[in-house]
Amino acid sequence: MSKIERLLAGAILSAMLAIGMTMGAKAGGEVQGETDNLSTLTGDSVRGHKTWKKSKCAFCHGWAGDGRGHPRSPGVAPSLRKTQLEPENFKEIVRCGLIGTEMPYHDRMAYRDDRCYGMLADEFEPDTMPRKGKTMSDASLDNLVAYVYKNVVGKRAATFDDCEAYFKVGSRNCMGMKR
Ligand code: HEC
Repeated sequence: MSKIERLLAGAILSAMLAIGMTMGAKAGGEVQGETDNLSTLTGDSVRGHKTWKKSKCAFCHGWAGDGRGHPRSPGVAPSLRKTQLEPENFKEIVRCGLIGTEMPYHDRMAYRDDRCYGMLADEFEPDTMPRKGKTMSDASLDNLVAYVYKNVVGKRAATFDDCEAYFKVGSRNCMGMKR
């Protein structure tokens, strides 16, 4: 795949996401991720929390999903609290990663068949394919998305209490936070 083709693929993807977003905005009013999205979630958010932890999303996006990941994590992972994505687009990004960025893919078959942006591994130039994250089943992905949309997307900044609820009471991870 040439550089131009790759740029085009990226542009088409962004356009598709943008269209998805405006359509979502029209249908969902202002508070997306709070109202209509929740009713479409089929997963189990408690199990989803385990998938979130196991998949190392927090390494880059921060335990609270606020974009404050590990200082040595690659790329600039955005706050998922502020994402405007609809759950369907969110899922696709987790399954397929984002081409040309550090956002990894988590679908075992990504780029082995054409399920991800119609692309196959051998069509990428060296080092341009998204990296592989921890693979997860469709059921785990649904659980993860339920967790994220119920606990992260559209939420205010995480507090000390949220931190202790996430880790455990007395956790050293929460020591620097205001009570
Ligand atoms: C190795 C670091 C890394 C890991 C691990 C990671 N991400 Fe990301 N993620 C990123 C980066 C960097 C971006 C921004 C890419 C870009 O430049 O657009 C991103 C973007 C995203 C986006 C798009 C957000 C938006 O509003 O456009 C979503 C959704 C997302 N990540 C979810 C996840 C989830 C869920 C997990 C765990 C299953 C995860 N990420 C794991 C680095 C990571």
